[in-house]
This record gives sequence, structure tokens and C-alpha cells, in this order.
Amino acid sequence: MPQTEVIAQEAIADGVYRMVFRAPVDLKKNGYAPGQFWHIRVTDSFDFTLRRPLSLCQADLDNNTVTVVYRAQGEGTRRIAAKRPGDALDVLGPLGRGFSVHDGDGRVLLVGGGIGVPPLLELAHQLAAHGIRALAILGFQTASQAVLLDDFAPYAEVIVVTDDGTLGERGRVTDFLQPERLQGVVRYYACGPTPMLKAVKDVLAVRGLPGYLSLEERMGCGIGLCAGCVHKIARDGVVRPLKTCREGPVFPAAEVVFA
Ligand SMILES: Cc1cc2nc3c(=O)[nH]c(=O)nc-3n(C[C@H](O)[C@H](O)[C@H](O)COP(=O)(O)OP(=O)(O)OC[C@H]3O[C@@H](n4cnc5c(N)ncnc54)[C@H](O)[C@@H]3O)c2cc1C
Ligand code: FES
Repeated sequence: MPQTEVIAQEAIADGVYRMVFRAPVDLKKNGYAPGQFWHIRVTDSFDFTLRRPLSLCQADLDNNTVTVVYRAQGEGTRRIAAKRPGDALDVLGPLGRGFSVHDGDGRVLLVGGGIGVPPLLELAHQLAAHGIRALAILGFQTASQAVLLDDFAPYAEVIVVTDDGTLGERGRVTDFLQPERLQGVVRYYACGPTPMLKAVKDVLAVRGLPGYLSLEERMGCGIGLCAGCVHKIARDGVVRPLKTCREGPVFPAAEVVFA
């Protein structure tokens, strides 16, 4: 199994950690896309047979390292958060299909909710490198859970939204999708909890805006073998259960069927 090592680990918000690890592949040669994920083994013991999927948040090509930002919510991610610099890490990736950047887009919209915000940072970085301006609407439950705001600032115009109004605007990200705010926007990219993705898709479909959604299905193998991660996708006039680990986790919004 690909063994690599933890380079850095720090808490950056309430229960949220930033971990840097040496990439298990040569990122320059292998390539990668924002929205792809890493499948991380929790321990060497048999207690945790399933790996935990965490999205690429940033890649450092000079040092061949990867940053993930994650919430330590269950036992598996808590064990990952306990790893220290120098500890071995068993990582598969980068896996799945990420976000596509469209050369020629003038202005795009990024919508992130909670721990769905981190994958949008690498996307914002790549959009900026292609000369595409981004408006990022980033939503969190409360100020203590807000992450990466300074990191987005060089790449995007940022609107911060909290459910309780303790930081930025009070409300939900969907409260800030008015047409006047979205002038010139030609595409959107969203990552966050499923109810948020559905609400964003519904609002922006009415405006005829194309976009991409990154789905957060529970995963088993992460490599297309177990079918534990299927989601209904409408493609070529047919609705099929597709494996989000192989065909996604990012899909064109128009294809995603919410029950
Ligand atoms: C493609 C993808 C990318 C993700 N990227 C991030 C990220 O960058 N940062 C982050 O904080 N979280 C991310 N998640 C969610 C993260 O993988 C889960 O929160 C984590 O696996 C839960 O594990 P646990 O040990 O904390 O919880 P447990 O409850 O112990 O997990 C039990 C099992 O359920 C699975 N599981 C539980 N919740 C989820 C969930 N929401 N999504 C998928 N599997 C789940 C676990 O993988 C494990 O197999 C991502 C999920 C997917 C599918
Ligand atoms: S997680 Fe096993 S097929 Fe997708």
C-alpha cells in the first residue's frame, strides 16, 4: 500500500484540522484536479477497515505535498487528527473526477457549505491561474467553524455567511444568490451538505446557470469495487446509479437526481 508521511497537523477551527502530507505520487507527473479526493487509512489495525475520503484542499508542487482540511467528527477522523509530523500515512489518490475549469469563462460562482469549503480553495487557485474571476459564497453554522477565509482572499471575492450571524452575513448561502449579485457569472461550482447542494441547484437551475456539484456519498473502497457510493445520475436520457468514487464525486449539476 502507498505509504507516505504526515508533514504537519494543526487545529484551525473548532474540531477542524489542517493536515499536510507528502503526496504518494509525483503530483507534477501524475496530475490532479480540484475536487479529487484522497482515501486515507485510519490505522494499521483491523478496527478500521474502511478508509476515510478527504478532498484535496491545496497542492504544493515544489514540495510534492498535499493539504487536506477536515472535521474530526467520528472515531476515524479523530484518529487521523491524532497523527503527528513524521507519522506514517497510508493514502490512495488522487481519486475520482474533480471540477473542470473552462478556459474563457469570465466570472464564476463558488458555493461552499461547512466542511465542503476546503475543496473549493484549490479550485479558486486554479481558476485564478486561468484568469477567471470567482465570487465565493462560503457558509458556516457559526464563526468558530469558519475556515480558510484568508486563504481564499487572493483568488476570489468572498462573501461569508453564518447561520447565526456571528460572522459575515446572517443566513444561508442560498439567501445570497440574487440575480444582481450574480451579474456576469457563467457557471457555478458547489460543495457542501446534500440539502445545500439541492437548494443551490434548484435556485440556479431557474436562472439557467450551468454548474457542478461535488457529492458527499459515504464510501467504502473508493476505487469502484464495492458500489457503496452510488448516486442517481441522469445521463443521455437514462437515470442510472453511478459510483461517485469513480464517476464523481463531481458531476454536472443538471445530471444529479435528488430523491
Ligand atoms: C469525496 C469525499 C470527500 C470528502 N472530503 C472531506 C473533506 O475534505 N473534509 C471533511 O471534513 N470531510 C470530507 N468528507 C467527509 C468525510 O469523509 C467523513 O466525514 C468521514 O469519512 C467520516 O468519518 P469518521 O471516522 O469521522 O466518522 P464515522 O462515523 O466513524 O464513519 C463511519 C463510516 O462512515 C463513513 N462516513 C461517515 N460520514 C461520511 C460522510 N459525510 N461522507 C462520506 N463517508 C462518511 C466513513 O468513511 C466511515 O466509513 C468527504 C467525503 C467524500 C465522499
Ligand atoms: S466506494 Fe466502493 S465503489 Fe465507490
